[in-house]
Amino acid sequence: MDTDKLRREYRAQSGHLLEENASSDPFEQFEQWFADAIAAKLDLPDAMTLATATPQGIPSARMVVLRGFDANGFCFYTDYESQKGKELAENPNAALVFYWRELDRQVRSTGIAEKMSAEESDAYFASRPVESQLAVQTERQSLVIAGREHLTEGFQRAEQTYSQDTISRPLHWGGYRLVPNLFEFWQGCPSRLHDRLCYTLLPDGAWEMKRLSP
Ligand SMILES: Cc1cc2nc3c(=O)[nH]c(=O)nc-3n(C[C@H](O)[C@H](O)[C@H](O)COP(=O)(O)O)c2cc1C
Repeated sequence: MDTDKLRREYRAQSGHLLEENASSDPFEQFEQWFADAIAAKLDLPDAMTLATATPQGIPSARMVVLRGFDANGFCFYTDYESQKGKELAENPNAALVFYWRELDRQVRSTGIAEKMSAEESDAYFASRPVESQLAVQTERQSLVIAGREHLTEGFQRAEQTYSQDTISRPLHWGGYRLVPNLFEFWQGCPSRLHDRLCYTLLPDGAWEMKRLSP
């Protein structure tokens, strides 16, 4: 299939990403762009690709949802025994990518993924809708299952077993925080003259900003 006809021009309708306008703190820059994505009413502004790898360097990537960020990093929740969970247990290096198409913007971040504390995971679990709480009791993510019935039966069993008061976070499910050591902000521009500002964490804790060729 020839996909060349899908080619499109990037518009930089929000303006160029210039060193003098960008924050020297990449977390603040992310916060600004994330606020822009929300203000633009984008669908799933919090959806991000998470890339992990085995210790041998075999990569895998999938979407997850951002469930909070601050100067400590980006939080997401998952099954600790899923493929990503097993990979992170052996190799905590991970990368995230956000793509906000309508704004012609991409953010990449690389860092080390740490498990969140049990208290943080408990608090988030307790805030989820009861259906979501039941769903994680039903099955371990990423296992091979016999068919869809297996899922629905498991969910019904969980509904019979737990009430809203007795349901608690299973230990195999919880949060990770990706602690970044690198950010890249990409603003698509006409004629492929895109802006790319890359922030690298220095040993003294300061961030160094550099422009990369598109
Ligand atoms: C938009 C979107 C958001 C998702 N959010 C999550 C999430 O926050 N946590 C999660 O475990 N899986 C999420 N998933 C499912 C994952 O992409 C993936 O299928 C699942 O986590 C199993 O991945 P693994 O086998 O590589 O560990 C999401 C999928 C999509 C399409």
